[in-house]
Amino acid sequence: MKPIRIVVLISGSGSNLQAIIDACQNGQINGSIAAVISNKADAYGLTRATQANIPTQVLSHKEFASREDYDGALSQLIDKFCPDLVVLAGFMRILTPSLVQKFKGKMLNIHPSLLPKYQGLNTHQRAIDANDSEHGVSVHFVTEELDGGPVVLQAKVPVDATDTAQTLAQKVHEQEHIIYPLVVKWFSERRLTMEAEHAVLDNQVIPAQGAQNPK
Ligand code: GAR
Repeated sequence: MKPIRIVVLISGSGSNLQAIIDACQNGQINGSIAAVISNKADAYGLTRATQANIPTQVLSHKEFASREDYDGALSQLIDKFCPDLVVLAGFMRILTPSLVQKFKGKMLNIHPSLLPKYQGLNTHQRAIDANDSEHGVSVHFVTEELDGGPVVLQAKVPVDATDTAQTLAQKVHEQEHIIYPLVVKWFSERRLTMEAEHAVLDNQVIPAQGAQNPK
């Protein structure tokens, strides 16, 4: 099976990027990262990419007058690398409908909550403030609804009485680094698709809370 080409979009530390780099290198994912694009020049993920000999590009949103202009340029930049899959790994931008439409079924995001709970920011603090007993992370296909596309896989973590937003974020990160490479692996094996707004794995529609018994 032909290895897939992946473009990863980041804004920060890139620990999820690192997990995907590692999974490409160890053969878990049948593919390679063609480029890493950041909207921030100081994102540490760019260093991680360079260390792995992956081409990097910085496209700062500050140089564009509107969201539409930025996303138009971003779309052209992504196209240069001919990706089969675009992976948002801590890319902290709201995407325009036309960009989302263009990569429909080919764009994944990771969001630090058990969607549909806590779309948007500050998810760990919101889970603590709500006295939730569990929290977690979701990988989903990107659609026009912010943090609202069909969930592929979730991982849960317990919320302890002593947890702070920081300790909870750490627990969630550990799970992120397991589930994101696994989902990209499924995509690379052509087992995962999006059809009619549903995520489909091995020809079965994935339920709202994500794939069960993932392998
Ligand atoms: C991750 O926790 C990811 O879930 C979150 O940003 C972090 C990036 O960490 N994404 C979002 O909040 C998207 N709405 P990383 O740069 O170390 O991979």
